[in-house]
Amino acid sequence: MATSYIQIDQYEEVARKTVDPAAWCYVESGSGQEQTLRGNQVAFEHIWLRPRMLVPMQAPDLNTTVLGTPISMPIAAAPVGFQKLLHPEGEATSAKGVGDARTLYVASSSATTSLEDIAVAASGPLWFQLYLFEPRSLSEELVRRAEQASYQAIVVTVDTPFYGRKERFWRQGYSMPGHIRKANFEPGVDPMVSSTFDWGLFDWLRSLTDLPLVVKGILTAEDARRAVDCGVAGIVVSNHGGRQLDGALPSVMALPEVVEAVAGRAEVYLDGGIRSGTDAFKALALGARAVFVGRPMLWGLAVDGAQGVTQVFDILREELEYAMVLSGCPTVEHIDTSFVESATGIRGY
Ligand code: FNR
Repeated sequence: MATSYIQIDQYEEVARKTVDPAAWCYVESGSGQEQTLRGNQVAFEHIWLRPRMLVPMQAPDLNTTVLGTPISMPIAAAPVGFQKLLHPEGEATSAKGVGDARTLYVASSSATTSLEDIAVAASGPLWFQLYLFEPRSLSEELVRRAEQASYQAIVVTVDTPFYGRKERFWRQGYSMPGHIRKANFEPGVDPMVSSTFDWGLFDWLRSLTDLPLVVKGILTAEDARRAVDCGVAGIVVSNHGGRQLDGALPSVMALPEVVEAVAGRAEVYLDGGIRSGTDAFKALALGARAVFVGRPMLWGLAVDGAQGVTQVFDILREELEYAMVLSGCPTVEHIDTSFVESATGIRGY
Protein backbone atom coordinates (compact mmCIF):
# COMPACT_ATOMS: atom_id res chain seq x y z
CA MET A 1 0.00 0.00 0.00
CA ALA A 2 1.28 3.46 -0.93
CA THR A 3 1.51 6.25 1.64
CA SER A 4 1.11 9.82 0.45
CA TYR A 5 0.99 11.72 3.77
CA ILE A 6 -1.32 14.25 2.12
CA GLN A 7 -4.96 14.73 2.96
CA ILE A 8 -7.72 16.04 0.77
CA ASP A 9 -8.17 19.18 2.89
CA GLN A 10 -4.68 20.33 1.93
CA TYR A 11 -5.88 20.40 -1.68
CA GLU A 12 -8.86 22.45 -0.55
CA GLU A 13 -6.56 24.97 1.16
CA VAL A 14 -4.30 25.40 -1.87
CA ALA A 15 -7.25 25.53 -4.29
CA ARG A 16 -8.88 28.27 -2.21
CA LYS A 17 -5.80 30.43 -2.72
CA THR A 18 -5.62 29.63 -6.46
CA VAL A 19 -9.18 30.23 -7.61
CA ASP A 20 -10.93 33.58 -8.10
CA PRO A 21 -12.83 34.23 -4.81
CA ALA A 22 -16.27 34.55 -6.41
CA ALA A 23 -15.79 31.39 -8.49
CA TRP A 24 -14.56 29.64 -5.34
CA CYS A 25 -17.73 30.72 -3.57
CA TYR A 26 -19.81 29.22 -6.41
CA VAL A 27 -18.11 25.86 -5.93
CA GLU A 28 -18.09 25.73 -2.15
CA SER A 29 -21.47 27.20 -1.34
CA GLY A 30 -24.70 25.36 -0.62
CA SER A 31 -28.28 26.60 -0.62
CA GLY A 32 -30.11 28.58 2.04
CA GLN A 33 -28.43 28.49 5.44
CA GLU A 34 -26.30 25.56 4.31
CA GLN A 35 -27.61 23.14 6.95
CA THR A 36 -27.60 20.26 4.48
CA LEU A 37 -24.15 21.22 3.15
CA ARG A 38 -22.76 21.00 6.70
CA GLY A 39 -24.90 18.00 7.60
CA ASN A 40 -23.48 15.91 4.76
CA GLN A 41 -20.06 15.91 6.40
CA VAL A 42 -21.11 16.02 10.05
CA ALA A 43 -23.30 12.92 9.59
CA PHE A 44 -20.22 10.83 8.80
CA GLU A 45 -18.68 11.82 12.14
CA HIS A 46 -21.58 10.15 13.94
CA ILE A 47 -21.02 6.80 12.26
CA TRP A 48 -18.45 4.67 14.02
CA LEU A 49 -16.58 1.62 12.80
CA ARG A 50 -16.56 -1.89 14.29
CA PRO A 51 -13.20 -3.35 13.19
CA ARG A 52 -12.41 -7.10 13.21
CA MET A 53 -8.91 -8.29 14.19
CA LEU A 54 -6.59 -11.05 12.97
CA VAL A 55 -7.94 -11.21 9.44
CA PRO A 56 -4.91 -12.14 7.32
CA MET A 57 -4.40 -10.29 4.01
CA GLN A 58 -1.63 -8.68 1.94
CA ALA A 59 -3.37 -5.65 0.47
CA PRO A 60 -7.12 -5.21 0.22
CA ASP A 61 -8.79 -5.61 -3.18
CA LEU A 62 -10.77 -2.50 -4.12
CA ASN A 63 -11.79 -3.60 -7.61
CA THR A 64 -15.49 -3.51 -8.29
CA THR A 65 -18.05 -2.85 -11.02
CA VAL A 66 -20.79 -0.29 -11.59
CA LEU A 67 -23.54 -1.52 -13.91
CA GLY A 68 -21.11 -4.17 -15.07
CA THR A 69 -18.24 -1.77 -15.87
CA PRO A 70 -15.04 -2.62 -14.00
CA ILE A 71 -13.46 0.21 -11.99
CA SER A 72 -10.39 0.05 -9.76
CA MET A 73 -12.20 1.27 -6.64
CA PRO A 74 -15.76 2.07 -5.54
CA ILE A 75 -15.08 5.83 -5.63
CA ALA A 76 -16.01 7.79 -8.77
CA ALA A 77 -16.48 11.35 -10.03
CA ALA A 78 -19.83 13.12 -9.57
CA PRO A 79 -21.19 15.27 -12.41
CA VAL A 80 -20.11 18.88 -11.93
CA GLY A 81 -20.80 21.75 -14.31
CA PHE A 82 -18.82 24.92 -15.08
CA GLN A 83 -15.39 23.41 -14.45
CA LYS A 84 -13.62 26.02 -16.58
CA LEU A 85 -14.08 28.25 -13.54
CA LEU A 86 -11.32 26.15 -11.97
CA HIS A 87 -9.04 25.26 -14.86
CA PRO A 88 -8.78 26.57 -18.44
CA GLU A 89 -9.33 23.08 -19.89
CA GLY A 90 -12.15 22.30 -17.47
CA GLU A 91 -13.91 18.96 -17.90
CA ALA A 92 -11.50 17.61 -20.54
CA THR A 93 -8.80 17.74 -17.88
CA SER A 94 -10.81 16.31 -15.02
CA ALA A 95 -12.09 13.45 -17.23
CA LYS A 96 -8.48 12.57 -18.05
CA GLY A 97 -7.45 12.74 -14.39
CA VAL A 98 -10.33 10.53 -13.25
CA GLY A 99 -9.71 7.99 -16.02
CA ASP A 100 -6.04 7.87 -15.09
CA ALA A 101 -7.17 6.92 -11.58
CA ARG A 102 -9.01 4.03 -13.33
CA THR A 103 -12.46 5.01 -12.22
CA LEU A 104 -15.73 6.35 -13.63
CA TYR A 105 -16.39 9.94 -14.74
CA VAL A 106 -19.91 11.35 -14.97
CA ALA A 107 -20.04 14.25 -17.44
CA SER A 108 -22.44 17.07 -16.54
CA SER A 109 -24.92 18.38 -19.08
CA SER A 110 -23.92 21.85 -17.78
CA ALA A 111 -20.27 21.25 -18.61
CA THR A 112 -18.17 24.00 -20.15
CA THR A 113 -16.76 21.35 -22.52
CA SER A 114 -19.04 19.55 -24.99
CA LEU A 115 -19.90 15.94 -24.23
CA GLU A 116 -18.14 14.90 -27.46
CA ASP A 117 -14.92 16.70 -26.47
CA ILE A 118 -15.06 15.13 -23.00
CA ALA A 119 -15.39 11.70 -24.62
CA VAL A 120 -12.28 12.36 -26.73
CA ALA A 121 -10.23 13.55 -23.72
CA ALA A 122 -11.39 10.88 -21.26
CA SER A 123 -9.17 7.95 -20.38
CA GLY A 124 -11.75 5.81 -18.58
CA PRO A 125 -15.44 4.85 -18.54
CA LEU A 126 -18.06 7.59 -18.91
CA TRP A 127 -21.68 8.15 -17.92
CA PHE A 128 -23.67 11.20 -18.99
CA GLN A 129 -25.70 13.30 -16.52
CA LEU A 130 -28.91 14.77 -17.87
CA TYR A 131 -30.68 17.81 -16.49
CA LEU A 132 -34.32 17.99 -17.53
CA PHE A 133 -34.12 21.11 -19.66
CA GLU A 134 -36.92 22.98 -21.38
CA PRO A 135 -37.76 22.64 -24.19
CA ARG A 136 -37.70 18.84 -23.90
CA SER A 137 -36.23 18.56 -27.39
CA LEU A 138 -32.95 19.90 -25.92
CA SER A 139 -32.83 17.07 -23.36
CA GLU A 140 -33.76 14.55 -26.04
CA GLU A 141 -30.93 15.76 -28.25
CA LEU A 142 -28.44 15.38 -25.37
CA VAL A 143 -29.48 11.77 -24.78
CA ARG A 144 -29.01 10.92 -28.45
CA ARG A 145 -25.63 12.65 -28.59
CA ALA A 146 -24.45 10.87 -25.42
CA GLU A 147 -25.41 7.50 -26.92
CA GLN A 148 -23.63 8.41 -30.17
CA ALA A 149 -20.48 9.41 -28.23
CA SER A 150 -20.43 5.99 -26.48
CA TYR A 151 -21.40 7.04 -22.97
CA GLN A 152 -22.42 3.94 -21.03
CA ALA A 153 -25.38 5.19 -18.97
CA ILE A 154 -27.67 8.20 -18.56
CA VAL A 155 -27.80 9.69 -15.05
CA VAL A 156 -30.93 11.80 -14.78
CA THR A 157 -30.87 14.41 -12.02
CA VAL A 158 -34.35 14.76 -10.53
CA ASP A 159 -33.72 17.07 -7.56
CA THR A 160 -33.54 20.22 -9.71
CA PRO A 161 -36.98 21.39 -10.90
CA PHE A 162 -35.51 24.83 -10.14
CA TYR A 163 -31.94 25.75 -9.30
CA GLY A 164 -31.45 25.99 -5.51
CA ARG A 165 -31.11 29.30 -3.64
CA LYS A 166 -27.34 29.61 -3.35
CA GLU A 167 -27.60 32.64 -1.10
CA ARG A 168 -23.96 32.86 -0.06
CA PHE A 169 -22.99 32.91 -3.73
CA TRP A 170 -25.76 35.30 -4.75
CA ARG A 171 -24.56 37.83 -2.18
CA GLN A 172 -21.33 38.12 -4.21
CA GLY A 173 -23.29 39.68 -7.07
CA TYR A 174 -21.10 37.63 -9.43
CA SER A 175 -21.96 37.01 -13.03
CA MET A 176 -20.25 34.23 -14.94
CA PRO A 177 -17.45 35.39 -17.27
CA GLY A 178 -18.39 35.21 -20.98
CA HIS A 179 -16.36 32.09 -21.75
CA ILE A 180 -18.07 30.13 -18.95
CA ARG A 181 -21.06 28.73 -20.84
CA LYS A 182 -22.84 25.40 -21.22
CA ALA A 183 -20.85 24.04 -24.14
CA ASN A 184 -23.41 21.40 -25.07
CA PHE A 185 -25.60 24.13 -26.58
CA GLU A 186 -25.21 26.70 -29.33
CA PRO A 187 -23.76 30.05 -28.21
CA GLY A 188 -26.60 32.19 -26.86
CA VAL A 189 -28.66 29.13 -25.80
CA ASP A 190 -28.78 28.75 -22.02
CA PRO A 191 -31.72 26.47 -21.24
CA MET A 192 -33.50 26.48 -17.88
CA VAL A 193 -34.36 23.33 -15.95
CA SER A 194 -37.96 22.14 -16.15
CA SER A 195 -40.40 21.69 -13.27
CA THR A 196 -43.03 19.91 -15.38
CA PHE A 197 -41.76 16.32 -15.36
CA ASP A 198 -43.34 13.44 -13.39
CA TRP A 199 -42.45 9.75 -13.05
CA GLY A 200 -43.55 9.19 -16.66
CA LEU A 201 -40.11 10.63 -17.38
CA PHE A 202 -38.62 7.15 -17.41
CA ASP A 203 -40.96 5.83 -20.12
CA TRP A 204 -40.02 8.86 -22.20
CA LEU A 205 -36.29 8.28 -21.66
CA ARG A 206 -36.72 4.60 -22.42
CA SER A 207 -38.30 5.54 -25.76
CA LEU A 208 -35.14 7.53 -26.58
CA THR A 209 -32.37 5.16 -25.57
CA ASP A 210 -31.46 1.59 -24.61
CA LEU A 211 -28.72 2.82 -22.26
CA PRO A 212 -29.16 1.98 -18.57
CA LEU A 213 -30.91 4.75 -16.62
CA VAL A 214 -29.62 5.97 -13.25
CA VAL A 215 -31.64 8.42 -11.16
CA LYS A 216 -29.73 11.00 -9.09
CA GLY A 217 -31.18 12.91 -6.16
CA ILE A 218 -33.28 10.33 -4.28
CA LEU A 219 -33.52 10.67 -0.46
CA THR A 220 -36.48 8.54 0.59
CA ALA A 221 -37.66 4.93 0.53
CA GLU A 222 -40.88 6.07 -1.16
CA ASP A 223 -39.10 7.56 -4.15
CA ALA A 224 -36.58 4.72 -4.29
CA ARG A 225 -39.44 2.20 -4.68
CA ARG A 226 -41.03 4.29 -7.43
CA ALA A 227 -37.72 4.59 -9.24
CA VAL A 228 -37.19 0.84 -9.15
CA ASP A 229 -40.75 0.29 -10.39
CA CYS A 230 -39.84 2.63 -13.28
CA GLY A 231 -37.01 0.27 -14.21
CA VAL A 232 -33.94 2.29 -13.24
CA ALA A 233 -30.68 0.37 -13.06
CA GLY A 234 -29.16 2.62 -10.42
CA ILE A 235 -30.04 5.21 -7.77
CA VAL A 236 -27.72 7.95 -6.50
CA VAL A 237 -28.72 8.91 -2.97
CA SER A 238 -27.89 12.61 -3.10
CA ASN A 239 -28.97 16.08 -2.02
CA HIS A 240 -26.83 17.67 -4.73
CA GLY A 241 -24.02 18.47 -2.30
CA GLY A 242 -26.37 20.63 -0.20
CA ARG A 243 -27.12 22.91 -3.19
CA GLN A 244 -30.84 22.23 -3.66
CA LEU A 245 -33.30 21.84 -0.73
CA ASP A 246 -31.63 23.23 2.38
CA GLY A 247 -32.69 21.17 5.39
CA ALA A 248 -32.94 17.98 3.34
CA LEU A 249 -31.49 14.86 4.94
CA PRO A 250 -27.71 14.44 4.84
CA SER A 251 -27.31 11.81 2.15
CA VAL A 252 -25.63 9.19 4.34
CA MET A 253 -28.62 9.41 6.73
CA ALA A 254 -30.98 8.67 3.84
CA LEU A 255 -28.89 5.76 2.56
CA PRO A 256 -30.12 2.92 4.84
CA GLU A 257 -33.82 3.43 4.04
CA VAL A 258 -33.12 3.59 0.30
CA VAL A 259 -30.99 0.44 0.41
CA GLU A 260 -33.72 -1.37 2.33
CA ALA A 261 -36.47 -0.22 -0.06
CA VAL A 262 -34.49 -1.15 -3.18
CA ALA A 263 -33.69 -4.61 -1.77
CA GLY A 264 -31.09 -5.39 -4.43
CA ARG A 265 -33.32 -4.56 -7.43
CA ALA A 266 -30.98 -1.74 -8.54
CA GLU A 267 -27.50 -0.57 -7.64
CA VAL A 268 -27.44 2.14 -4.97
CA TYR A 269 -24.74 4.81 -4.86
CA LEU A 270 -24.18 7.83 -2.62
CA ASP A 271 -22.71 11.29 -2.95
CA GLY A 272 -22.42 14.25 -0.58
CA GLY A 273 -19.77 15.01 2.02
CA ILE A 274 -17.28 12.27 1.14
CA ARG A 275 -13.95 13.77 2.21
CA SER A 276 -11.92 10.65 2.96
CA GLY A 277 -11.64 6.99 2.05
CA THR A 278 -12.97 6.25 5.53
CA ASP A 279 -16.18 8.16 4.71
CA ALA A 280 -16.42 5.99 1.58
CA PHE A 281 -15.96 2.86 3.71
CA LYS A 282 -18.84 3.93 5.96
CA ALA A 283 -21.14 4.51 2.99
CA LEU A 284 -20.22 1.14 1.50
CA ALA A 285 -20.92 -0.48 4.87
CA LEU A 286 -24.37 1.11 4.86
CA GLY A 287 -25.10 -0.47 1.49
CA ALA A 288 -23.76 1.82 -1.24
CA ARG A 289 -22.13 -0.02 -4.15
CA ALA A 290 -19.95 3.03 -4.87
CA VAL A 291 -19.66 6.67 -3.87
CA PHE A 292 -19.20 9.79 -5.97
CA VAL A 293 -17.18 12.86 -5.03
CA GLY A 294 -17.81 16.38 -6.30
CA ARG A 295 -15.89 19.24 -4.70
CA PRO A 296 -12.67 17.30 -3.84
CA MET A 297 -12.25 16.53 -7.56
CA LEU A 298 -12.52 20.27 -8.27
CA TRP A 299 -9.83 21.05 -5.69
CA GLY A 300 -7.43 18.66 -7.43
CA LEU A 301 -8.34 20.20 -10.79
CA ALA A 302 -7.65 23.74 -9.58
CA VAL A 303 -4.34 22.83 -7.93
CA ASP A 304 -2.74 20.67 -10.61
CA GLY A 305 -5.06 19.85 -13.52
CA ALA A 306 -5.42 16.19 -14.50
CA GLN A 307 -2.56 15.16 -12.24
CA GLY A 308 -4.16 16.89 -9.25
CA VAL A 309 -7.45 15.09 -9.94
CA THR A 310 -5.69 11.73 -10.15
CA GLN A 311 -3.87 12.48 -6.90
CA VAL A 312 -7.10 13.32 -5.08
CA PHE A 313 -8.57 9.98 -6.17
CA ASP A 314 -5.35 8.18 -5.23
CA ILE A 315 -5.49 9.67 -1.73
CA LEU A 316 -9.10 8.51 -1.35
CA ARG A 317 -8.05 5.06 -2.60
CA GLU A 318 -5.22 4.85 -0.11
CA GLU A 319 -7.43 5.94 2.81
CA LEU A 320 -10.03 3.34 1.83
CA GLU A 321 -7.30 0.69 1.72
CA TYR A 322 -6.23 1.65 5.24
CA ALA A 323 -9.82 1.58 6.50
CA MET A 324 -10.25 -1.89 5.02
CA VAL A 325 -7.00 -3.36 6.35
CA LEU A 326 -7.54 -1.94 9.82
CA SER A 327 -11.16 -3.15 9.85
CA GLY A 328 -10.26 -6.64 8.65
CA CYS A 329 -11.90 -6.41 5.19
CA PRO A 330 -9.93 -8.12 2.41
CA THR A 331 -12.26 -7.12 -0.48
CA VAL A 332 -15.06 -4.66 -1.05
CA GLU A 333 -17.51 -7.60 -1.10
CA HIS A 334 -16.67 -8.18 2.58
CA ILE A 335 -17.86 -4.69 3.60
CA ASP A 336 -21.29 -4.89 5.22
CA THR A 337 -23.41 -3.27 7.93
CA SER A 338 -21.65 -5.24 10.67
CA PHE A 339 -18.73 -2.79 10.27
CA VAL A 340 -20.68 0.29 11.38
CA GLU A 341 -22.28 1.42 14.58
CA SER A 342 -24.12 4.69 14.68
CA ALA A 343 -23.94 6.70 17.90
CA THR A 344 -26.84 8.97 17.00
CA GLY A 345 -29.04 6.47 15.23
CA ILE A 346 -28.61 6.53 11.47
CA ARG A 347 -32.11 5.41 10.62
CA GLY A 348 -32.46 1.67 10.74
CA TYR A 349 -29.18 1.07 12.58
C1 FNR B 1 -22.62 20.09 -8.63
N1 FNR B 1 -23.51 19.02 -8.74
C2 FNR B 1 -24.12 18.77 -9.95
N2 FNR B 1 -24.99 17.72 -10.06
C3 FNR B 1 -25.57 17.43 -11.26
O1 FNR B 1 -26.35 16.48 -11.33
N3 FNR B 1 -25.26 18.18 -12.35
C4 FNR B 1 -24.41 19.24 -12.33
O2 FNR B 1 -24.14 19.88 -13.34
C5 FNR B 1 -23.84 19.58 -11.07
N4 FNR B 1 -23.01 20.66 -10.95
C6 FNR B 1 -22.39 20.93 -9.74
C7 FNR B 1 -21.50 22.01 -9.65
C8 FNR B 1 -20.81 22.22 -8.46
C9 FNR B 1 -19.84 23.37 -8.40
C10 FNR B 1 -21.01 21.37 -7.36
C11 FNR B 1 -20.25 21.56 -6.08
C12 FNR B 1 -21.91 20.33 -7.44
C13 FNR B 1 -23.73 18.11 -7.59
C14 FNR B 1 -22.73 16.95 -7.63
O3 FNR B 1 -23.01 16.07 -8.67
C15 FNR B 1 -22.77 16.13 -6.32
O4 FNR B 1 -24.10 15.76 -6.06
C16 FNR B 1 -22.18 16.88 -5.12
O5 FNR B 1 -21.10 17.69 -5.49
C17 FNR B 1 -21.72 15.86 -4.08
O6 FNR B 1 -21.30 16.51 -2.92
P1 FNR B 1 -19.75 16.82 -2.57
O7 FNR B 1 -18.93 15.62 -2.96
O8 FNR B 1 -19.38 18.04 -3.37
O9 FNR B 1 -19.80 17.06 -1.11
